[in-house]
Amino acid sequence: MPLPPSSGSRPGVFTPGNALHLGRKNASYHPETGRVHGLKASRATDDRAAQILKEHGQRVAEFLRSTTPSITRDWRVATCSFRPLEEQGRNLSAHASNELIHVDADAYGATHGGRILRFFVNLNPSEDRVWVSKGTFPRLLEKYGAAAGLAGGMGNRIRPGPLGRLYSSALRGIDRLGIPLGQVLDTSPYDRAMRRFHNYMKDTPEFQNSPEGLEEFRFGPFCAWAVFTDMVSHACVSGRFALVSTFVVPLENCRLREFVPYYILKGSFAP
Ligand SMILES: [Fe+2]
Repeated sequence: MPLPPSSGSRPGVFTPGNALHLGRKNASYHPETGRVHGLKASRATDDRAAQILKEHGQRVAEFLRSTTPSITRDWRVATCSFRPLEEQGRNLSAHASNELIHVDADAYGATHGGRILRFFVNLNPSEDRVWVSKGTFPRLLEKYGAAAGLAGGMGNRIRPGPLGRLYSSALRGIDRLGIPLGQVLDTSPYDRAMRRFHNYMKDTPEFQNSPEGLEEFRFGPFCAWAVFTDMVSHACVSGRFALVSTFVVPLENCRLREFVPYYILKGSFAP
């Protein structure tokens, strides 16, 4: 993907200057609508941004399909976002902040146990994108699960009951009609548990401030990296201009169940 020019904001051209037109946290291309959401810009700029993000997302998807076919089988291709603003000091609300360490939850609506795979590219030609982590989900759940209200394993409570299954199936029907509402409204016991843990991490200063297990990762200019962000805790503490492609990998594609949040929360690695 060609780099946007370093300045200017001509109509119809998606440049860093258009960051001023950002209406949401990021500018995101939604494949189900073919539109970019999050820009307050002219239709021409919206269309150009949608085209760039769509093409980038397709290129990433093709790369992952060719290199990791067993992971990508029957996956859901979700958003492709551009993050044009400096992450350090964005002053977002705690639950929206990228600067607070967390694991991702329902990044593209309910996943029902599906894994959140994200592919990042640092487009910044001169500055690193800097992450910190406090380790992976199993270790964090073991240490903080009780405080977050998730101790002891959920057992079969992680599966939706009959009403929950009916609700999700009705929403999938709405999606098939071309109304992309279902994925936003859908939920499941698993997704609520992951959201609870995500919020606990971001809402708990003692967790955020503790140096225990803290590691820094620096991704240089034009670096690309892929992460199961529901497994690896992370915060982006500085960096500007990144592309982020999101995919939901079916639970059935995960062979190492001891590394799968659904089975860890269930408290059993059996099906
Ligand atoms: Fe995240």
